[in-house]
Amino acid sequence: MAPKFVRSTIQKMAGYAPGEQPAPGTRIIKLNTNENPFPPSPKVMEAIAKVPGEHLRRYPDPMSRSFCAAAGKVLGFKPDWIITGNGSDDVLAFALLTFCAPGDVLAYPDPTYSLYPVLAGINDVSVKPVPWEDNWRLPIEGLLASGAKAIFLANPNAPTGTLVEPGVIGDLASRFDGAVLVDEAYADFAEANCLELVRRHENVIVCRTLSKAYSLAGLRFGFAVAQPQVIAEMNKVKDSYPCDAISIAAATAAIEDQEYARKTWEHVKAQRSRLADELTKMGWQVIPSHTNFLFAMPPGGRGKECYEFLKSRGVLVRHFDKPGQRDKVRISIGTTEENDVLLKLLREWK
Ligand SMILES: Cc1ncc(COP(=O)(O)O)c(C=O)c1O
Repeated sequence: MAPKFVRSTIQKMAGYAPGEQPAPGTRIIKLNTNENPFPPSPKVMEAIAKVPGEHLRRYPDPMSRSFCAAAGKVLGFKPDWIITGNGSDDVLAFALLTFCAPGDVLAYPDPTYSLYPVLAGINDVSVKPVPWEDNWRLPIEGLLASGAKAIFLANPNAPTGTLVEPGVIGDLASRFDGAVLVDEAYADFAEANCLELVRRHENVIVCRTLSKAYSLAGLRFGFAVAQPQVIAEMNKVKDSYPCDAISIAAATAAIEDQEYARKTWEHVKAQRSRLADELTKMGWQVIPSHTNFLFAMPPGGRGKECYEFLKSRGVLVRHFDKPGQRDKVRISIGTTEENDVLLKLLREWK
């Protein structure tokens, strides 16, 4: 029983259910939460080792200026177009607080990242999930008719891995008065992204993470890009020191080492094609992916059985027990060797 002094909305809601995280050191092939299969850049480890004790004694830079300068250089924005957070989940949380008041509506295409309704629920914001149209086309009219104050749009989407063309999102933004937050957690594995829209549309906010493309899920570092007057408002809402001194140093080194990161993206994309081809040959239905994972239906729609079989053999994938999703599994792209094991097991699976 929840204590009576807890807000009733919190008592009634279910919290976010993260993917399984086995204890560090557990012998398992972990393909369930879309981490990058490669370690972070060696430059990241050097930067962490070099953080002086003095930087831990003092509070960290509240604005992560070294990171914003480095990311701005890589992405082509001035530092005041960037704000950082403790993972992109944190950025999504303070973005929601910036754009929606209790009682407002948050809309998003459905299915999508299951954190959005949780963040809304915590803040007494109602949600309007709008089903994707055929072939994962953006339900623009439904989103516009939702009465929403903000639209959250994962692009590429999770768990489907599908991509909406930036031009379509630009059209949505120009017809909508509220904020359009484009969650680009997986954009580095895609051929297109919405960064250019930010220059033209004051109401477009692009959110990124270092968890996937930069192999730093354990560090917790995310950021958003938007026009400076929007960033200034989000700044009032974020935690005073959302990123610690070590994470700022590490994230700065990671984004500066584009050469290393890009090699990992190329590997992931090549292995993504290989896995998709092999699974298709085995009779799976694979949704074409623009991310570092595949969302796919095994023969007979036996998603749960597949998840359980793989788990019993030491390979963790993700299964969502939800309508329209329980017949599939979501498989993060691993190293070549991990994918070899996965394919061998799936060939044996009866
Ligand atoms: C669409 C989407 N957005 C955001 C995140 C969270 O990223 P972070 O680790 O930066 O909080 C995830 C993680 O799985 C995701 O799938």
